Amino acid sequence: MKTKMKTNNCGELRAANIDEYVTLSGWVDCVRDLGGIIFVELRDRSGYFQLVADPQVNKSIHDVFSKLKNEYVITVKGKITKRPPETYNETLDTGEVEMYPEEVTILSEAKTLPFVLDDTNVSEDIKLKYRYLDIRRREMLNNLKMRHKVVTAARNYLNSEDFMEVETPVLINTTPEGARDYLVPSRVQPGKFFALPQSPQIFKQLLMVGGIEKYYQVAKCFRDEDLRADRQPEFTQIDLEMSFVEQQDVINTVEGMLKAVFSAAGIEINPPFKQITWREAMDRYGSDKPDVRFGLELFDVTDIMLNSDFQAFKDIIAAGGTVRSIMIPGIAGYSRKEMDDIRNLAVGFGAKGLAWITFAENGEIKSPLTKFLNEDRIREIKERAGAKDGDVVFFVADKPKTVFDVLGRFRLYFGEKLNMINKDEHALLWVVDFPMFEYSEEEGRYMSMHHPFTSPNPEDVDKMESDPANCRSIAYDIVYNGTELGGGSVRIHSAEIQKRVFKALGISDEDAQRKFGFMVNAFQYGTPPHAGLAIGLDRLIALLCRTDSIRDVIAFPKNSGAKCLMTNAPTEASEEQLRELHLKSTVKPHVQ
Ligand code: AMO
Ligand code: AMP
Repeated sequence: MKTKMKTNNCGELRAANIDEYVTLSGWVDCVRDLGGIIFVELRDRSGYFQLVADPQVNKSIHDVFSKLKNEYVITVKGKITKRPPETYNETLDTGEVEMYPEEVTILSEAKTLPFVLDDTNVSEDIKLKYRYLDIRRREMLNNLKMRHKVVTAARNYLNSEDFMEVETPVLINTTPEGARDYLVPSRVQPGKFFALPQSPQIFKQLLMVGGIEKYYQVAKCFRDEDLRADRQPEFTQIDLEMSFVEQQDVINTVEGMLKAVFSAAGIEINPPFKQITWREAMDRYGSDKPDVRFGLELFDVTDIMLNSDFQAFKDIIAAGGTVRSIMIPGIAGYSRKEMDDIRNLAVGFGAKGLAWITFAENGEIKSPLTKFLNEDRIREIKERAGAKDGDVVFFVADKPKTVFDVLGRFRLYFGEKLNMINKDEHALLWVVDFPMFEYSEEEGRYMSMHHPFTSPNPEDVDKMESDPANCRSIAYDIVYNGTELGGGSVRIHSAEIQKRVFKALGISDEDAQRKFGFMVNAFQYGTPPHAGLAIGLDRLIALLCRTDSIRDVIAFPKNSGAKCLMTNAPTEASEEQLRELHLKSTVKPHVQ
């Protein structure tokens, strides 16, 4: 759209525009004074354009230009001219053209910025404090552009598949996603609180009861959990739910959407993606979000160790533990110190110890376990590992959860260290058949692995009470290069099964009625079979932008202390506000 202040964008001007009169507006990206002639790089969202002021050509324009400083906002009017070929700037799309403005107005002056935009040594705290300046950086701008492209592509795809975007409320009751809630006190209902949604889960299911059939939403979710590079207290999901579908229908839809999204990001991917069961993911990769761009698969040696003389391992196995291994090729030459460092790494990952067998290049076998393993056992291990001389086999014995966690992290560590990961590969896969329940040591009871509305696998329904640990659900995750991008499930649509699940979770009838009563009731009025999934949008964009931190793809993120450094939120409430909300703070207010 042409406006009086801007007929064209800086970055779009080309040789074809030569002789056109245009009005450009933007920021002074840099000023170069070459002995009288002043060059200014004008910047707007679209790119850069060179302006020139020559005192011989126009004295008054040159006078204004001599006052310009970086980040001033100006508007100029003039004719697009061809640059002398020897001055072409190959690095700029607009490098063949320039303008000697006939009019220039300073719209806004700028103080010296608190940091140099392209300086890579600036601390993230400073950048977050002045996020509006950080967004001027091309990299940030490009990340936000990518975000916009991806959301647009997802919306277009889902719209074309007959989905409807429906908004769901933000002031709600607790959601069952398993994180801590953000609470909002009610002024008009003393002593009562809303919770912010951890996801639109309950509402999207009720939309299915309401007959919407195909719903999606670009939804804000709020979770008060410990933050990491891939977690924010408020984040965005592409959330969807469908009626009259089975797991494979949701998978097909999500694959279609991801293909469209990746294509918008310039990446071709080819669904259908591989599907592996949760069990297989754990056994082979020690993770429910495996990075399958490289091998280094784990293998089970429990049976071999049971046949050995190593009592410590046998005791662990007898107590329900397992012994698993990973073979790392070509590191038999590691020094004693390097092996100790690796052991410390494993202990840091939660292992009680780390054992190994080194198959040296010269055929020598070294291991802290040699006194417990005879030649036959060692040969069995070497065979199972597919190890050659020069390789090392590591062992971890513990509860399965610990063994998988340690070896899974070990695998990632060596994949990275040995440069085994092709960074140009886009490995998408589905992990299916998640367990229904997970035992929580902390709570001393079984908890939902996904959420309590997830359907048990019909083949395992009767295990819910008798053998909860081995009851599978119909839940699935989509994994991209070792990151959990999204997850979903087929939902329970029978009030009777829902009741049994609540019971298996130790949620009493009264509790279920109090927390989710409206949902249980709703399901009595004609509920279609339904299923859905949510993609973590921030994670998806971060991966597409090849950044490790989702903060880089969110315009105004919180820092790792869940604080907005720009606005200083959260802040203390005034006495007056607290009184109105019927709240009393036990924390002494302090002046910031
Ligand atoms: P889930 O809890 O697995 O499922 O969340 C779906 C996806 O959201 C992303 N995600 C996050 N991203 C950034 N910061 C966070 N704190 C954060 N937490 C989760 C992840 C995750 O895969 N209602 C269900 C979906 C369903 O069953 O349809 C849900 O929210 O990428
Ligand atoms: P020990 O007999 O206790 O000295 O153990 C022999 C070797 O087994 C040492 O290298 C220990 O680090 C290792 N080890 C001990 N416990 C475990 C375990 N749970 N998993 C793997 N290795 C272990």
